[in-house]
Amino acid sequence: MKQEISRVDPPAKQGPVEAEERILIRGGKKLKGTVRVSGAKNSVLKIMAAALLVKGVSVLKNVPNLTDVHMMAEVLRHLGAVVTISEGEVEIDATNVQDFEAPYELVSQLRASFNVLGPLLARFHQAKVSLPGGCAIGERRIDLHEKGLKQLGAEMHIDHGYVYASCKKLVGTRIYLEKPSNGATENIMLAAVLAEGTTIIENAAQEPEITNLADFVNAVGGKISGAGTYTITIDGVKPEDLHGATVETIPDRCEAGTFIYACMATGGEITIEGANPHHLYSVINKAQEMGAEISILAPGTIKVKADGKMKPIDITTVPYPGFPTDLQAPIMSVVACSEGTSIITETIYENRFMQVAELRRMGADIALTGNAAVVKGVPKLMGAEVKASDLRAAAALIVAGLAADGVTEITGLHHLDRGYEKLEDKFRALGADIWRR
Ligand code: EPZ
Repeated sequence: MKQEISRVDPPAKQGPVEAEERILIRGGKKLKGTVRVSGAKNSVLKIMAAALLVKGVSVLKNVPNLTDVHMMAEVLRHLGAVVTISEGEVEIDATNVQDFEAPYELVSQLRASFNVLGPLLARFHQAKVSLPGGCAIGERRIDLHEKGLKQLGAEMHIDHGYVYASCKKLVGTRIYLEKPSNGATENIMLAAVLAEGTTIIENAAQEPEITNLADFVNAVGGKISGAGTYTITIDGVKPEDLHGATVETIPDRCEAGTFIYACMATGGEITIEGANPHHLYSVINKAQEMGAEISILAPGTIKVKADGKMKPIDITTVPYPGFPTDLQAPIMSVVACSEGTSIITETIYENRFMQVAELRRMGADIALTGNAAVVKGVPKLMGAEVKASDLRAAAALIVAGLAADGVTEITGLHHLDRGYEKLEDKFRALGADIWRR
């Protein structure tokens, strides 16, 4: 008789696993109506970090309700700040902040929390911040942060996954950034606020979020000029010169661009309110080249009209004011169902085409070669079950689902909720057949 080998029982089945949330879209409906853009995630997170500079109460308005905002609040609370999040507003009292360590378990969940390094170094002359680690879209190096802070006089070393920074004092100097890195510009700019003398950052990031951050610093008593241009000048002040203030977060240009491209993918006519068209010139320009009719009705109001097939386009992502990498995935969903062949080249991140595999499941015809995607437009995308790999890929899959024939089911929504506030509700209000289950 065959000796039965001792069977190894399968691992105990887990209890009833919570069914993962998903977004369901029945595509093919033209978008119509008016939608309001929320405040910019990539502004709020940095201003929250900058509030650490101030022994007082700072208030941010027009704040979106995002998981990343709640995560950053946790980081600040860990450091000793009192953070109150209410509808559209965050209040930060950093008076009693004494801790200067941002731990791995928090920083690894929110890489933007690495931006507490500059303010902590400025205020306490020391900081211990976990290295943010890589992320799905690329290596996300911090060498430019380190180089700039060292030029200001910080001693820095990396040990067991943490950046240790300390200084007797920070002294203003001229710093040239090899790349116009947002994060490096922000950390250096914030460290320089309390440095002795003047700091000049050359080849600074010019994104509107940098300007919003500088506006906050000036509102609390700092002295920054040139934000939004190639050269930023920071005149150091004393800690006692800083005081609480209230600032407004700028509109989220990535969200506004997502609505523009969704309207182009489905056809229709929408009005976007609360946006800042000045932050969207490259985005609007590409949309118009593809055949969308876009008009600026009043300050902050953009009208988009798109019917029929959009024309092909070539896109290269570059630092602001060029075409933003954060809208590369959403516009790919548009060209995937436009006429002709489009070429999208990604120059900011090494691995930001992860939406391609999912778009192919929906029938997209995309070939990758190096950092370029060659997208041959197909008559119609097909609904399918797809999974988001990162924040902007999630938005791209929604845009594709809105245009596709049939039903699309999207999981991986924790990525989406990091950077978009109730996006499915906003699209439903524009007539889309979209639900979260
Ligand atoms: C900000 O990231 C945004 N995030 C990103 O948005 C955005 O894509 C990016 O700027 C570029 O616009 C936030 O603001 C929270 P970088 P950041 O420093 O500051 C390399 C989203 O979807 N680099 O400008 O991390 C780096 O590896 C997110 O909302 C170095 O080589 O971007 C990357 O390839 C994704 N050395 C490039 O520069 C450094 O020291 C851009 O990085 C720093 C960066």
